[in-house]
Amino acid sequence: MNDRAPLVRTEHVGAVAILTIDNPPVNATSHALRTALKAAIEAVLGDLITQAVVLIGAGRGFIAGADISEFDRKRDEPLNPAIIAVMERANKPIVAAIHGHALGGGLELAMGCHYRVATREARMGQPEVKLGLTPGAGGTQRLPRLVGLPLALDMIVGGDPIAAPLALERGLIDSIIEGELRAGAVAFADNLVRDKAPLKRVRDLPPPELPDPEFFVQARADLTKRRPHLQAHDSCVAAVEASLLPFDEGLAREAEIFAATVASEQSKALRYQFFAERDAAKVSYLPADTPVREVKQVAVIGGGTMGSAIAICCADAGYGVTLVEADPAALARARATLRKHYDSAIKRGLKGDEAERRLTRIVGTTAIDAVSIADLVVEAVTEDLALKQQIFAALDRMAKPEAILATNTSYLDIDTLASATHRPENVIGLHFFAPATQMRVIEVVRATKSSTEALATGMAVGRKLRKIPVAAGACDGFIGNRLLTARWRATEALLSEGITILDIDRAMVAFGFAVGPFVAADMAGLDISYRARKQRGRNLPLVDAIVDAGRFGQKTGAGYYRYDPGNRTPLPDPEAQAIVDKARGSTTRTSLSADEIVARILGAMYDEGKNLLKDGIAERASDIDVIWVYGYGFPAYRGGPMFYGERNFKR
Ligand code: 3HC
Repeated sequence: MNDRAPLVRTEHVGAVAILTIDNPPVNATSHALRTALKAAIEAVLGDLITQAVVLIGAGRGFIAGADISEFDRKRDEPLNPAIIAVMERANKPIVAAIHGHALGGGLELAMGCHYRVATREARMGQPEVKLGLTPGAGGTQRLPRLVGLPLALDMIVGGDPIAAPLALERGLIDSIIEGELRAGAVAFADNLVRDKAPLKRVRDLPPPELPDPEFFVQARADLTKRRPHLQAHDSCVAAVEASLLPFDEGLAREAEIFAATVASEQSKALRYQFFAERDAAKVSYLPADTPVREVKQVAVIGGGTMGSAIAICCADAGYGVTLVEADPAALARARATLRKHYDSAIKRGLKGDEAERRLTRIVGTTAIDAVSIADLVVEAVTEDLALKQQIFAALDRMAKPEAILATNTSYLDIDTLASATHRPENVIGLHFFAPATQMRVIEVVRATKSSTEALATGMAVGRKLRKIPVAAGACDGFIGNRLLTARWRATEALLSEGITILDIDRAMVAFGFAVGPFVAADMAGLDISYRARKQRGRNLPLVDAIVDAGRFGQKTGAGYYRYDPGNRTPLPDPEAQAIVDKARGSTTRTSLSADEIVARILGAMYDEGKNLLKDGIAERASDIDVIWVYGYGFPAYRGGPMFYGERNFKR
């Protein structure tokens, strides 16, 4: 017996049939839902009582689109176009009543209704492009007919939703319901019946007007410049362009384009990423009922680049922050960093008073005993074990007994830090990625004695910071930096074989990274990772030869590239290559194709990822991918080093 509530409930208020879609958590249109919805619509269209229909979502929104998990297999009828065809043909008015989100197939279903009403907070969009897809149920044909080409193209190529007031202004919806949505939608439907209002079929609207003859040429040129790698953007433009055709021809063209995007490797990778991000929240040793401590006040120890950025992340999320520095000069530098950050945030659009509010949430001090008010302390001083041990011993004396003591170390042994306290169960790693204000991922590191409560609190804080927290076991480099080390080892080997700095960077950029490993290293500064390697006895003689020559990257005007004063553009530098060649004692070159270079580097990372899985440092391959996509700029449309590795060099 199936005692689950039906996916679509039908009720009547007078002559208005209300079809409530109830498929938690987001009313995705799975096959079962589509079947139930089509049957429910056909039933009310065929009965004698119903004179108008309201389609509404239960729970937190209308419909978040097609069930993404179904795209990996053949999707069975009825598909949304068939449901929309029934609705559009209907001789009774159908009203979509939207709250929360109407996304993707959800918005397409709504546009297949004769009228649309929404709450003021509702948001509507075609986010398919973010999954490497184009809309596939008429979105590219109906949206331009309703809102015109410029906005439709923006929504479909950009993927971001618009809010109800704009939707109303531009004709996507017919009314905003201020009171209760269901009652308002029923009243709206009653009025349609009373007024014998026409059945507005979007398909019958004329094709949209072309704002200027170069509109699509320009759109394509912009994309080539901004997003050279993503195929779905071009596909979206092509599908929207088809809206200039007669409706059914445009629809057929959209269907062809959609089918090609569903089958594309890029979309498979992006769909995988969608679930990978969400799976990262599910940690086997942190069941959903694990208690989470309340965190209101955070203390950050160290106001350098990383510490300041962590303080900013915390202040932006609404936490009160105490920023502790060693001396007044360092504190003044940290304050200047914070000011500079918020000044540039204002230039990028943050309101001045909001910036001030955030800035005043951060209180700077040189007195470490100020940590006594903190619920969470994040230590972010330089990677010096003895210094960190001293700090943890001091935190142990001064912090509240239940405070969580976190370290932002990239590779030092967290157990050693925990053992400097009498509360190792409260010690965890919270590893941010640089630049911490931008990178969306954070590793929550489990030391031997970390309690589940402390770790669950770390995960909750990560979410509050609007990041994707990923659980990692303790080891040298955790997840992200272990693969980074593997990348450096592979790079060193390539250099030793006579592959050049430029060849390697170009190959990785062609693969999809925004910058190659050497440009990235120059940007980060070479001295810190160099010191870290030396401390651990790691030897990369060719990679390190550049640093031995006194070149520390962008900040010193020279690293693997050279930089003109005041300019951050990396300029190829034969001198840098000469330093490497001198260290390897040869100037002979080997020639490897870009694909071979990529395969060598990514193959090494994939192997290291498998080691992490074997050692239980990473819970699942997709966690590794999430960290590399959001922490190191691995192209999301390639899925991540593990997804790519499984498909390309499984061994
Ligand atoms: N299909 C399947 N599962 C979905 C889903 C979808 N479209 N949207 C969300 N989910 C699942 C998530 O995986 C998650 O599951 P979990 O709890 O087991 O991890 C759960 O629903 C909740 O999702 P979020 O954690 O993302 O919840 P939020 O409240 O943060 O966000 C949301 C809600 C804004 C709706 C967000 O989930 C979202 O953006 N969803 C995807 C929307 C989308 O891309 N729609 C287009 C689909 S493609 C399409 O419609 C093609 C059509 O044109 C033919």
